Amino acid sequence: MFFEKIPRIELANLPTPLERLNNINSQKNVDLWIKRDDLTGLAFGGNKLRKLEFLAADAREKQCDTLVTIGGQQSNHARLTAAAAAKLGLRATLLLLGEKTAEASGNYLLDLLLGAELKFLGDVNALELEKHLKREKEQLVSLGHNPYIIPLGGSNNLGVISYTAAVKELKGQRENIKTIITACGSAGTQAGIILGCKLFLPDCQVVGISVWHPADYLAEKLMELCTETIKEFQLPISISQKDITVLGDYIGAGYGVPDEMGLAAIRTFARREGIILDPTYTGKAAAALLDMIDQSKLSEPILFWHTGGTPGIFTHSSARHLSLEFSKS
Ligand SMILES: Cc1ncc(COP(=O)(O)O)c(C=O)c1O
Repeated sequence: MFFEKIPRIELANLPTPLERLNNINSQKNVDLWIKRDDLTGLAFGGNKLRKLEFLAADAREKQCDTLVTIGGQQSNHARLTAAAAAKLGLRATLLLLGEKTAEASGNYLLDLLLGAELKFLGDVNALELEKHLKREKEQLVSLGHNPYIIPLGGSNNLGVISYTAAVKELKGQRENIKTIITACGSAGTQAGIILGCKLFLPDCQVVGISVWHPADYLAEKLMELCTETIKEFQLPISISQKDITVLGDYIGAGYGVPDEMGLAAIRTFARREGIILDPTYTGKAAAALLDMIDQSKLSEPILFWHTGGTPGIFTHSSARHLSLEFSKS
């Protein structure tokens, strides 16, 4: 099968568990399941480890000695790139947006612990990230290194195909899922799931919940990633606009800013199921999920794909928001 010939290094604990959310189900009279990619393992896990299994294998094939990527100061992707590098005996250089702060917390703290080289870029234009990666690559080459550049969120063809493979894994656990809900940031995870559903679960609709960009921008990006990946790996499927559903209604006050609906969803998952979500990605996606369940908008059984991000609970900013919110009964 297509992606099974692509080089891959084992980094994640797979398959991740598929669980039924019994307490939420009886409260809301719904058939809801969760795919626990928060439990992929290495350094607190998360969705990016699946992508890194393919990206790091490509880096190894190219005999690279340094993984280089870019993200926000609290990037889960950057943290897991650092962890993958540590495990594989490679260097990691992380270009982080924003300013260095005196005290590190959450993912930033873990980046330091994992021994990555951190470079803070300050207030940079989000459209110029590639320029910064290119400049870093040139610098590392001039110092005698062989860097491997991983784009924002690991969202290129290799990142996408990892989630296409993940749907095959899901099919092995349960075949009748009708709707998948997932957080959408740099779009690679959702793009891979869309292709995977086309291949393995053709009756399943994929709904992405944007946590950052407007929905029309993401729809274009999803189409581009899906089309390129189909071409690159010669997948026997085609894709059209009707396969792409991404909602921009649950971003709240902005990327990484916790909001009331997201916090309520975090509370529901914690108190009813003992499952921890994060305020930036999975909390907002779960808020959308619960809202759409209340409006009977989703075909069942529904799967919520937990993409991880749990270190985001332990940042100074979320400590401020969350301790206020959760000390209410
Ligand atoms: C916890 C978590 N969930 C979801 C996403 C979104 O994945 P993608 O960037 O592939 O859209 C990210 C991306 O950083 C993430 O860290």
